[in-house]
Amino acid sequence: MNNYYNPVRTVQGPGCLKCLPQILQDMKLTHGRVLILGWDTKVFEYDVFSQLHSSNQSFHIQKAVFQESNPTVKHLFKIYKETKDFFPEAVVAIGGGSIMDVGKSLCCLYGKEISSEQALREFIQNKEIGSPKTKWVGIPTTSGTGSEVTCWATIWDPEKEAKRSIENPENYAYAALVDPEMTEGMPLKLAVSSALDAVAHGVESYWAKGTNAVSKALALQAVNRIMSNMEALLSGKAEGRDAMAQGSMMAGLAFSNTKTTACHSISYPLTMHYKIPHGAAVSMLLAPVFQMNASGTDGMPELLKALGVKDGEDLKERISSFLIRSGQPASLKGWGVKEEELPGLAELGMTKGRADNNPVEITAETINIILKSIY
Ligand SMILES: [Fe+2]
Repeated sequence: MNNYYNPVRTVQGPGCLKCLPQILQDMKLTHGRVLILGWDTKVFEYDVFSQLHSSNQSFHIQKAVFQESNPTVKHLFKIYKETKDFFPEAVVAIGGGSIMDVGKSLCCLYGKEISSEQALREFIQNKEIGSPKTKWVGIPTTSGTGSEVTCWATIWDPEKEAKRSIENPENYAYAALVDPEMTEGMPLKLAVSSALDAVAHGVESYWAKGTNAVSKALALQAVNRIMSNMEALLSGKAEGRDAMAQGSMMAGLAFSNTKTTACHSISYPLTMHYKIPHGAAVSMLLAPVFQMNASGTDGMPELLKALGVKDGEDLKERISSFLIRSGQPASLKGWGVKEEELPGLAELGMTKGRADNNPVEITAETINIILKSIY
């Protein structure tokens, strides 16, 4: 059955950041308390923030910086403690996927008494998040995670060797401002790995067990937009950035309703234990999982066409080339993974809600074969 829902107002295009004051006014905040959560103090220098003071509504602004990548329960608790007394009615999250994840998580925490890191861990594990008291606006400065249009957040818990998720269908962003000018200056490695993460979001949404016609259509558009503009991205052209901003948002809209599958499932222990950046880990897995899923996916010819490749081998070559040309390894060995640890990583790669969302059944044994193929 085709069932698709996504309430996020998306504003996309070069310069669309200037719409922020209007969006905040449209939110009709009672007291106008807004937390600007930035990945760096330099984001506060954008003109748009000084315009907030001269807009029709008076806003009370608090600024906070969050610079951790792969945010943990400890990091989230720290920023919650720093900002909870302000109790913002809106959080404006400006940054990459980690900032989005922290910004949307905070919305679920304000108004609740969470006294310690352990209490926060239990709150997340409990899964009874309740209606958020705070709304949020996502402004991505990378193109890839799609987190500005999904309702879940990844929070890592290295002390318990776990990846946790704060998930709440009531916690979609009020709006996402996807402005490619915000991604200017992104290091090439990050630009490429983020773009390939978005390709994986699109592809995995397309073949996910719970896919639907809207997600599939968005996924094809997203994948085609990104893959056909990778050369422009690698050569630093503005049109490459524009395509990535649009493509990653569309991939986000696609997988917001389907979740991801085997590539993401298998990638999490690689990121947790070897610090392989998320996009690089996921994209190395894309081709072998593609070959495994080919028989279980409806519409493979359309997907191959959108990817612009002949087959799985061709896909592997293209992705490896993008990673290597942006200065990052395209094999597990290159990232420092020890061969004898592959079976253990394969066991950990069976992530609940992702592995079982793959169109073809996967086991630790099949994951081990996949990991060997990219070693
Ligand atoms: Fe991802």
